[in-house]
Amino acid sequence: MDWQNLIYALVQVAHNFGAAAVVGGALFSLWPARQPAEIQRRLAWLVLTGWTVQGVSGGIFGAASYLFYGQLPDIHGIAIAALLIKIVCAIAGFLLAAAYLLRAADWDEDERRRAWRATFGLGATALGAAAFLRWFS
Ligand code: HEM
Repeated sequence: MDWQNLIYALVQVAHNFGAAAVVGGALFSLWPARQPAEIQRRLAWLVLTGWTVQGVSGGIFGAASYLFYGQLPDIHGIAIAALLIKIVCAIAGFLLAAAYLLRAADWDEDERRRAWRATFGLGATALGAAAFLRWFS
């Protein structure tokens, strides 16, 4: 058993499910039908958890590289830009989901819809950036 590969694979499992949670949660709140406020709130918890998992598992990727190779992954150019985009999306998405959970009770339906669209946009952007990070690393 290669423990190093096992650790990377398990972190990747968490990272993949986190990505599914943020993108899927935002999409389901909007399509195929608008969800009632109570369901939207539960989806906001799912999405907040998803962003948290992305940040933590992304950090563990870096920490594992440091532990196993004594340095962070050697990436340049497009890969760095893609990673920065993912980090910005994760931070903005986390703050938006937290704001939603704290404030959305006072928002009207249009404001909630805008928040979900922005969440979906951040998730889709991060997911797109992941492909560039993968293939330009
Ligand atoms: C703090 C934020 C994040 C960090 C530090 C991070 C870091 C990483 C790293 C190091 C990898 C492995 C890259 C490789 O195999 O070469 C990865 C893969 C991946 N990340 Fe992230 N990530 C973050 C956020 C996100 C977000 C927000 C999403 C999507 C919503 C995401 C989706 C993915 C996917 C789908 C992969 C697998 C790509 C593939 O192998 O094809 N990541 N991430």
